[in-house]
Amino acid sequence: MQLADTFRMQFDRLLWEVVSISDGVVSPDVIQSGEVFTQYTINAELATSYYTGVNIPYDLTRAEMNLMGDRNYPLSQELEQQVYEINERAIELTESLIQFKSTILSNVLSCKMYSVNYPLLIDHIKREAMLYLKMVKFLQSREIINIENEVLEQELFWNRIMAEHSKFIRGLLDPTEEILINTANNFGNEFDQLAEEAKAAMDNSIPFSQVTADSLEATKAIRDFKAQGTQGILECKVKSIIIPLLGDHTLREANHFLRLLKSFSR
Ligand SMILES: [Fe+2]
Repeated sequence: MQLADTFRMQFDRLLWEVVSISDGVVSPDVIQSGEVFTQYTINAELATSYYTGVNIPYDLTRAEMNLMGDRNYPLSQELEQQVYEINERAIELTESLIQFKSTILSNVLSCKMYSVNYPLLIDHIKREAMLYLKMVKFLQSREIINIENEVLEQELFWNRIMAEHSKFIRGLLDPTEEILINTANNFGNEFDQLAEEAKAAMDNSIPFSQVTADSLEATKAIRDFKAQGTQGILECKVKSIIIPLLGDHTLREANHFLRLLKSFSR
């Protein structure tokens, strides 16, 4: 538990540094996408701090909300060096976090440890950390990517993540929330199918643009569902054991995937 808290504080510190050099440099698309913050983030953080006693630095979110974007900012060598150093520390920190998540997962799976989190949730956040690590390492290597392969890999990854979110939501709703449980279940099935589509496109059995278009439509729908759900939880209108910040987090990930999909369909 103490180790988890240390990781949280180290990542908060890293994020502070990122925010402190991002003003006027960050892509406007990213700031406006709703993946960094949503209209619910601060309230979700306040409620979650209150429920858990964890000190969530919502002033960090405030700072993110004040960032100005600029697409054409000329990159200085100094900034490039700062980014390089932050990335090196992000790699180191993320590698130990993945190790930590792997240990917890294997302890839970071998019944040496009990967790209120589903084992799939621990596996899910471990895969997210692994994707992040892969992308930061890739940036550091300065290699050129094969866009088409990368797009399908991202679509497979995020469709699977959206399917899992749906199933977590389904399982954390109060049993009386039948309509919402059904909706979440349908999203789970739909995104399972989309993940299969992305796999099929990798073998060239269906066109690549088809998966992007289908994923875009489904992700808009699940984004709306998650936004309503997060609002409902914050307003105490949805019965569940979903922590408010988890609701907002899944919404931000849907917004992230939407931004990727829009850029892939250009
Ligand atoms: Fe996530």
